[in-house]
Parts: sequence; C-alpha cells; structure tokens
Amino acid sequence: MKKVITYGTYDLFHEGHYNLLKRAKKLGDYLIVGVTTEHFDEARGKVNVVDSIMERIDNVRKTGLADMIIIEDHEGQKIEDIQKYGVDIFTVGSDWEGVFDYLNAFCKVVYLERTPNISSTILRTNQFQIVRVGIVGTGRMAPRFVSESKYVSGMTINCAYNPIKESADKFEKKEKILTYRDKFEEFLKDVDAVYIASPNETHYTYAKQSLKSGKHVLSEKPLAFTRIESEELYRLAKDQNVVLMEAIKAAYCPGFQQLLNVAKSGKIGKIVDVEASFTRLADPASRECTDGNYGGSFLEFGPSVLTPVIKLMGKEYLSVNIDSLYDDNGVDIFTKADIRYPEGFATVKTGVGVKTEGQLVVSGTKGYIIAQSPWWLMKRFDVRYENPSIVEHYEPNFQGDGLRYEISDFISKINGTNKNDYKLTSGESIIMSEFIEQFMEQKKRMRFV
Ligand code: CTP
Repeated sequence: MKKVITYGTYDLFHEGHYNLLKRAKKLGDYLIVGVTTEHFDEARGKVNVVDSIMERIDNVRKTGLADMIIIEDHEGQKIEDIQKYGVDIFTVGSDWEGVFDYLNAFCKVVYLERTPNISSTILRTNQFQIVRVGIVGTGRMAPRFVSESKYVSGMTINCAYNPIKESADKFEKKEKILTYRDKFEEFLKDVDAVYIASPNETHYTYAKQSLKSGKHVLSEKPLAFTRIESEELYRLAKDQNVVLMEAIKAAYCPGFQQLLNVAKSGKIGKIVDVEASFTRLADPASRECTDGNYGGSFLEFGPSVLTPVIKLMGKEYLSVNIDSLYDDNGVDIFTKADIRYPEGFATVKTGVGVKTEGQLVVSGTKGYIIAQSPWWLMKRFDVRYENPSIVEHYEPNFQGDGLRYEISDFISKINGTNKNDYKLTSGESIIMSEFIEQFMEQKKRMRFV
C-alpha cells in the first residue's frame, strides 16, 4: 500500500484545497492529511486564521478523501510523521516548490501544481474589508506598531497624526506614511480605526473623539486617568457599536493566557498572592523621566503589572495602598502598590529610576508559578513546589515583539470573528483606570505636601 501525506491550514476551505487533496489521493492508496494548529500557524506568520482547528479538520473530513487526519503542531513533525506512518510520498502545492526537498531523505517529494487565483489569504481579504488604521502619535511605539502589523492580515496603516510638526515630519519621511499635522478630524476621515500611542494625558481625549466619529480604538495604556472616564469611553464604544481595546500587550500574548490557565487549573492550589514587577532604567531625557505631571513609572508600566493581578485575583479588591519615590521634578522613579483581596494579596512594583528583578510570581497553597523577566512577553515560566526537584517548565509560542497578538485581536474583533473579550474585558480595563486614578490622587497629595 502506497501512503501519501500532505499538510495545510485549510482555512476557509476552498477549491484549491479540494483539488490538491484529490490529486494527492491519486498519488497512492492511502492519504494522511496534517492540519496545522493555530499556534503552529502563528509561528509561520499567519496570525489570523478564521476557522477553528475543529472546523478545518471537519472540512477536510467532509471531502471524503482523507483516510487519516492528524494535527501538526510543531517544527520537525513532518519527519517524525513520515517515519511513524511509513509514508512513501510527501506532497504539497507548488507554492512550496523546493522548500521540502530535505524530506527526499525520508520519502519521495512531489510538488503538485497549485490551483490558480484562489487562496485562504484572498478569501480572508475578500470576506472582510481591509481595516484602514491610523496611528495617533508618532513616537517610540508607532514604528513598532508599523513593523508588527505586517504580520496581521486584513489591515493597512493608512496614515498617522501628530500635531508636533518635527516628529510628524520625521515619521513620515522614515515610514513613508502620510502624516497629518493638524486637523484631527481630517485624519479621522481617512481611517476606520485608530491606534493611540500619543502622550499619556492625551489618550482619553483622542479616544473619545475617535469613538464619537464611529472609529474603532486601540489605545495605549493608560486608557484614562479615572474610572469615570474609562466607563464613559466603553459606554461610548458600545453606543457607537465599535471596538475599544486598551493596548496591554501582556494580556494578548499566548503564553500569558497559558499561565492564567495553569494558575487557575488548581495545580498550585488556591491562588493567594500575586507579585509583579516591571522596571526600566529609562533615558534621562525621555518623557518618562522628565515629565513630572504625566511621565514616571506607574503610568508607564502600572497597567502591565496590574494585568496579572486583576486577571488572577479579580476586580473585587478590598483596599490598595500606593506609594512612590519621587525625584525633584515629581516623576515617580519607583512605585509600589499593595492590594488586599478578601482572601489574598498582590504587590506590584514599577520603576524608571530603580531596577528590580522584573518577575511575576503567583503563589498558591500547593505551589507557585514564576515567570522571569521579561514576563510580560511570557516566553517561559515554571511551576514549582515544596519539593525543589519537581519543576514543570513551560515554553509557550511567541513571535516578534508580541504586539502582533494584540493587533490581531483588535482586527478580528472589528471583523466580528472574535467577539469575546475575555483576554482583557472592559470591566478589567475600567478597574485598571480606577487604580490609575488612585495613583494620581496619591501623587497630587504627595506633591502638595
Ligand atoms: N493549495 C493549492 N492551490 C491553492 C491554494 C492552496 O494547491 N490555490 C494547496 C497548498 O499548496 C497546500 C494546501 O493547498 O499544499 C493547503 O494550503 P494552505 O496553506 O492551507 O492554503 P492557502 O490557500 O495557500 O493559504 P494561505 O493563503 O493562508 O497561505
């Protein structure tokens, strides 16, 4: 019996897929089809596959051509499968010509001609309108957003906005993106969605204006300085039927989701304490280090360190005590917040002038989870117990600098393919603003003294 194997994502199953499977089957007597998982696809640069793995498997099954369907989830699996199943022929479409020649050492490799003018990418693009995104603020985050958005299909960066001419000129020249210098309304007319990466104190106003104009908003943290403002923005987004997301990268990284699930699985018992730290000795000339009103460490990193706290301990805290060390300009070079929950605790630390170990520790009644710096990307973490010889190590999938996950979620929410906002709910983001509000109050009091 001649065994044939082929692999694919089979998203939005189309004629090209069917033709390929039909011809693959004809190459032998028994056809094995490998369907790739979302995580494996992410690693290959496809971050917004529309159909779930179950739907994709089901569509392959419905063709009646596959004798066996397997899941492909890791690099190097093809060689394993070929040996494990005693495969005679490996085949894929001609778009992969040459890429799998190395498998000739294990079986025969056949590239089948691809069906012209159809692909999942074309269907994904046609199914949804390309979202035209405009960037507000052209500082440090904007170029990172530009480069990471290249990995997200279904969007284009149409233009940018910065009222400071010098910065706008620089960005336009370097990124070749039309940049508006005045007339925010004109800029808004050119976009369906905005990414707000302007100075902290302007997020709320830009977000409000954009939402009022019916634009989707992804705003850098902190979204707002008070709970009321944050609530107002989410209400506005709901009324306008548009998406509003606070851009807290950590919340959208795949590894972070895994850590939350492991923590909540009972493995470490009941979660009693969360400790998160994020410090960066910033450039003394940077806004964080010089702007006594809206710079400093807590506005910069507070939302990131609060994310695991709110996700794991919840929104119903009993009290919070925030304390900071200020420099002469009123910049909090180090801030520490202790939060008391009915049955637990949390401590967060942020710094721009003090360095700590940037780690996340989740302690439970049976063990603890430790994610070392940079935990906010969550490339790896350990579960540890009383017995030091037992360590469970996790290395979740992670690509690029992590922004692509948040951008991808934003775009798929706009397209309606990902309606659940479980990764960071509006309620959680509102609590974040409540903590920011308490920090600002504490800051006012301290500076007054
Ligand atoms: N394929 C084909 N003809 C097409 C599209 C795909 O023969 N028009 C083949 C691919 O070469 C591959 C298999 O179908 O062997 C599964 O491809 P997959 O990557 O899932 O589909 P694409 O449509 O190429 O997806 P994308 O646009 O996301 O790359």
